[in-house]
Amino acid sequence: MPAQSPIMDAAAPVFPPGYPHDLEREVIGDGGLRFRLRPIRPDDAARLVSFHRHLSPHSVYMRFFTFHPTLSDAEVARFTTVDYADRLALVATVDDRLVAVGRFDRAPGETEAEVAFIVADEFQHHGIGTLLLDELARAARERGVEAFRADTLAENSAMLDVFRHAGFPVSSSIEYGTVTLRFPIQLTDDYRAALAAREATRSVQPGAAT
Ligand SMILES: CC(C)(COP(=O)(O)OP(=O)(O)OC[C@H]1O[C@@H](n2cnc3c(N)ncnc32)[C@H](O)[C@@H]1OP(=O)(O)O)[C@@H](O)C(=O)NCCC(=O)NCCS
Repeated sequence: MPAQSPIMDAAAPVFPPGYPHDLEREVIGDGGLRFRLRPIRPDDAARLVSFHRHLSPHSVYMRFFTFHPTLSDAEVARFTTVDYADRLALVATVDDRLVAVGRFDRAPGETEAEVAFIVADEFQHHGIGTLLLDELARAARERGVEAFRADTLAENSAMLDVFRHAGFPVSSSIEYGTVTLRFPIQLTDDYRAALAAREATRSVQPGAAT
C-alpha cells in the first residue's frame, strides 16, 4: 500500500472514541450561506485558537463577560475535548475554517445543561446561532437532557432574541446585569411550529465531516 503523504495525514480528521457522526450536517442557510455543522474534535485546537483570535473584543466580551483575547492551552484542551454525552460542542465550518461554536455542559446525573454560543462576527445574523440551538437541543434530548440554562449579559439582545424566538417556553431572571434563562427543550407544539417555519428557509442534511 502506498504511504500517505504527511500533508494528507496532518489534514485528516481524527475521530475520538464515541464521536457521533450522526450529528454531522450539510447546511444551506437562509440567504444561501453554505456551511457544515459537526461535533468538535481535539484536532480542532488550532482552528479554535485562530477562530478566537479573530473575534471582535465585543463578541468575546459577550461570550466570556471579560476581556479575553487569547484562549489558554487548558481552555483549548477543555473546549475541544468532550465526551459527546454530558459535554457536547458543535462547530460550524466554512471550507476548513471554524466560524461558530455552540456547546452544552451538564454535571453527570443532571437533567439541565448549560449552553453557550459564539459565532464569528462576519457570520452573525445568518441564522447560525439559531441552528446551533436547534441541533444542540436535538442532540441533548437524545442524551437525556431535559432543559437548558444560559447566562447572558442583559445588553446581549442577539443572544436573548435567539432564545426567546426559538419556540421554547423561556423563563428568565436578572441579577447584576446578567440574565439567567431556563427552558425545557421538549418537542412542544409551539417549538415544532417555530422549527418548521425555520426549516422552510434552510436546508439541513446529514453530511460527512472534514
Ligand atoms: C449571540 C450570537 C451567538 C447569535 O448568533 P447568530 O448566528 O448571529 O444568531 P442568528 O442569526 O440565529 O439570530 C440572531 C438574529 O439574527 C436574525 N437572523 C437570522 N437569520 C437572519 C438572516 N438570514 N438575515 C438577517 N437576520 C437574520 C435572527 O432573527 C435574530 O434576530 P431576531 O431574533 O431579532 O429576529 C452571536 O451574535 C454571537 O456570537 N455573539 C457574540 C457571543 C455571544 O454573545 N455569545 C452568547 C453568550 S451565551
